[in-house]
Order: sequence, then C-alpha cells, then structure tokens
Amino acid sequence: MKRFKNRDIIDINDFPREELLYILKIAKKFDPVFVKKDRSNYTIAQGKIAALLFFEPSTRTEQSFRSAAQKIGMGTIGFNDPEATSIHKGESFSDTIRIMDAYADVLIIRHPEAFSAKTAADVAQIPVINAGDGPNQHPTQTMLDLYTILKQFGRLDNLKIALVGNQKHYRTMHALSAAMFKFSNNKIYGISPKGLEMPAEFKHANYFDEPIDMRKLNRKLSEIKPDIIYAGRIPKEYMKGDVKKYSYQIDKETLKCLPKSTVIMHPLPRVNEIDPEVDASPAAIYFTQARNGLYVREALLTLILGRI
Ligand code: CP
Repeated sequence: MKRFKNRDIIDINDFPREELLYILKIAKKFDPVFVKKDRSNYTIAQGKIAALLFFEPSTRTEQSFRSAAQKIGMGTIGFNDPEATSIHKGESFSDTIRIMDAYADVLIIRHPEAFSAKTAADVAQIPVINAGDGPNQHPTQTMLDLYTILKQFGRLDNLKIALVGNQKHYRTMHALSAAMFKFSNNKIYGISPKGLEMPAEFKHANYFDEPIDMRKLNRKLSEIKPDIIYAGRIPKEYMKGDVKKYSYQIDKETLKCLPKSTVIMHPLPRVNEIDPEVDASPAAIYFTQARNGLYVREALLTLILGRI
C-alpha cells in the first residue's frame, strides 16, 4: 500500500479501492459508534499546524477540519475571507500558498476555481488537501460519503444510487460517481434536468443518465428503487441565468414512492431540495453524514502527518 505520509489529497482518482478502505478503517478509530469513548487523542499531532485557506464559504468542511485538527492536538491558522488578507493588496494565489506553506504542516484549501488545489500542491512543499475546487471535486467529502454508506449498509458494492439534481456542476457528485466505480456492481442513476448531466470524465460503464422534468422525480425514483438517494442543491454560484427552473424537492410524498430501506444523503447545505418534514424519517441520514466528516478528517490528518 502506498504510504499516506506527506501525501496530497487532490483527486479521488488518486486513491485506489484498497487505500479508500484503509482510510475508512482508520476513521472508525475516531468514531464513538465503534469505540467506547471519544478516542480523539489530543497528543497525536501535538505541535503540528493546519492552515485552513478558505477562498469560498463553508460551514461543514472548514469547521470539521478545524475540529478534527484540534481533536488530534494540532493548532490551526488560516482565513475564510481572502479580502481580509494581502490578496486584497494584489498578492497572487501562488505567493499566498508559498507564505502559508512556511507557517504550517498541512494546507487545507477551498477555492472557487477548478484545479486550484492542484496548482497549490505544485507550489507547496507540505501536503495539500483539496477541500473543494470549484465545480471540479471535493475528495474528502467523497471519503466521508463512502464512510457513511459503509456504516449504513456494511458494504460499498452492489448498490443502486440515484444522484438527484445538477450533476454537471456538482463536485461531490463527480467524485462520488468516480469513487463508486472502484467497487463492484454499483449502479448510478443520474437524475438531472436536461443539459445538466454528469460530465463524461466522471461516468463509467454502470452510470445511467436519467434527464427528466424534475416535477416527475417521484415517478422516476419509484421506477429505480434506489438504495441511496444522493441529493444536492442547485449550485447557482457556478451557473448562469435563472436557475429556479431546475429546483425540486424530496418530501413525504417522495418517501411513499421508495422502498423502506432507501436512505437519503445530501452533502449539505440544503436549500429547498429536502423538505424539513423528511428529517424525522429514518431514511434521512444527511446529518449523520455531516458528523461522519469529523472522523474521516481526523483519520486523514493523522495519516498525512504519519502519526498512525
Ligand atoms: N458539504 C460541504 O462541503 O459543505 P460546506 O460547503 O458547508 O463545507
């Protein structure tokens, strides 16, 4: 197995199945569902610094990385408002990365441009984690999605997943589609408005485009009978024109169309895609999914720093 120490996390395709399974195994060591007490160890990475460079807003990714770093003993530095840094004075992205590289042991970067994390990794001496690069990918979200699926079903094979919403611009769906291909006999159904289908590079043999009028979502889901619905908001920051026409909602009527065992995931934030009335259903696992991000990110930081 390739070593994790000092490794960048840029693209989910850089991680074969065995490595993904290993990361998920380590994540279990931090998850109170699997360990009797909080196994976060405040000394694992004592003296190390995580720099969180958020050029684009975030709640879950930024705060769970911050929490994960602190739970394993790291200090944190960084920003979430680039205008409050010397970028405001005209400093370039590359120079900003070079400077933060000197102050930290790992860089965690979210940026609105595709492939910006790769650009940062080319400049930095220390490991870089892609925390979402525009409409491209969000590999650590995918790792926590895989962890959530494994925890729920006990397997990552033989699953039917309905991706619902705009697949074209949705980075977490891109990386999840690519990741599920590494496991056996998974079928992915991309239920999107026409014109917002999955880009070819993230599709595979068992990927089925299902472009529909989103008002017919419930009917389509009752045909597919997915194990997992993976919903996403309309990423309007990456789209032009009126995007309201693409909106849809999963509600109590949708639940009636689904097998009892179907679960609903969403990377969050949600806007209107899931009626809050669905939250109380056992099918709704999106808040657990967000919580799982903490354990996966504790594992990733520990592995990258070579502390496990
Ligand atoms: N899932 C996710 O990336 O959420 P944030 O944008 O809040 O980080």
